[in-house]
Amino acid sequence: MTLKFNLAGNSPTNLRFIETERPVIDETREVLASLAQNPPRLSPKYFYDSRGSELFEHITELPEYYLTRSEAEIFDVYLDEIAEALGSGDIIIEPGSGNCSKVQPLLERATPSAFVPIDIAGDFLWEAAATTALTHPNIAITAIAADFTQEWTFADEIPQGRRIVFYPGSTLGNFDPGAQRGFIKQLAKVVGIEGGILLGVDLHKESTVLQRAYDDAAGVTAEFNRNMLSVVNARTGSNFEPNSWQHQARYNDKMRRIEMELVAQSDQLVNIGNQTLSFAQGEVIRTEHSHKFTLENISDLASAGGMTVTHHWLDRQSQFCLALLQTA
Ligand code: SAH
Ligand code: AVI
Repeated sequence: MTLKFNLAGNSPTNLRFIETERPVIDETREVLASLAQNPPRLSPKYFYDSRGSELFEHITELPEYYLTRSEAEIFDVYLDEIAEALGSGDIIIEPGSGNCSKVQPLLERATPSAFVPIDIAGDFLWEAAATTALTHPNIAITAIAADFTQEWTFADEIPQGRRIVFYPGSTLGNFDPGAQRGFIKQLAKVVGIEGGILLGVDLHKESTVLQRAYDDAAGVTAEFNRNMLSVVNARTGSNFEPNSWQHQARYNDKMRRIEMELVAQSDQLVNIGNQTLSFAQGEVIRTEHSHKFTLENISDLASAGGMTVTHHWLDRQSQFCLALLQTA
């Protein structure tokens, strides 16, 4: 693990930036193993380099992608209640913090002493954390560039105190159910019995609304999906041709999840590490599952972490849920 302090000499004094390294060889092995599944898969974490993070930011502003607006509405309406329910949380930790925009109302209203954004897109994280540090000079910020699905070797860098994990945006839904429970367990361990998890998840609903949210008219989600292949190329030295793949998104009602795929537009050979993989025209790579939740699911997840849902809030149209999980 390398520590970067005061990058470029003009870093805000209340910001520490920590970067964990992932060797190319590990990522190549991981990519080959997931492409060997049926259907071939790539982890959604490969969506996010700086361009992928910008494309995701653009998605959150699309008319079809209601998730971000619904969650923001919950904060607008219930911020006082949410802050009261959180109590005196001293440290706010946000896995998958992206542009750090969702946490702003909490930083202002809950006034923690420390904020710990964690994200795999290091350069984007640096910009977002530096901006947040400048606008909140009294909050000590430890930004950690890391893959949160790997062992939390960076855990000792998180300040001590009463900890609240803020995990918004339904990012939990990008894990499959077993991994969702595993991740909640991990977060429960990080916050301990005094802390809490403030979790934002998208609710199960009519499939056409969901389908549109993941297949927008302007084609931004398609671009986001294809960008994954450029990220995999950059991380593993592979030679995917992103423009030879087409975006596809379908809601699987039975599994309650959006399944996002890339469909090969022609026969192709792709070199990755010391292997050459062949894809026939029409073959797919599954790039993302975005699971949708029920209130019952959220309670079950809380139990997996030895916690209960002590509070929950919905937007006016009951599209999205923000839940507070605490140890009983
Ligand atoms: N929390 C923001 C961003 C959600 S997008 C919001 O709700 O709008 C998902 C974020 O998680 C991205 O910023 C992405 O870079 C990050 N991310 C995805 N997989 C990750 C992983 N394995 N480790 C760390 N960060 C990850
Ligand atoms: C980050 N994650 C919760 C988004 C989602 O809705 O599953 C990623 C995304 N994929 C397509 N559009 C947005």
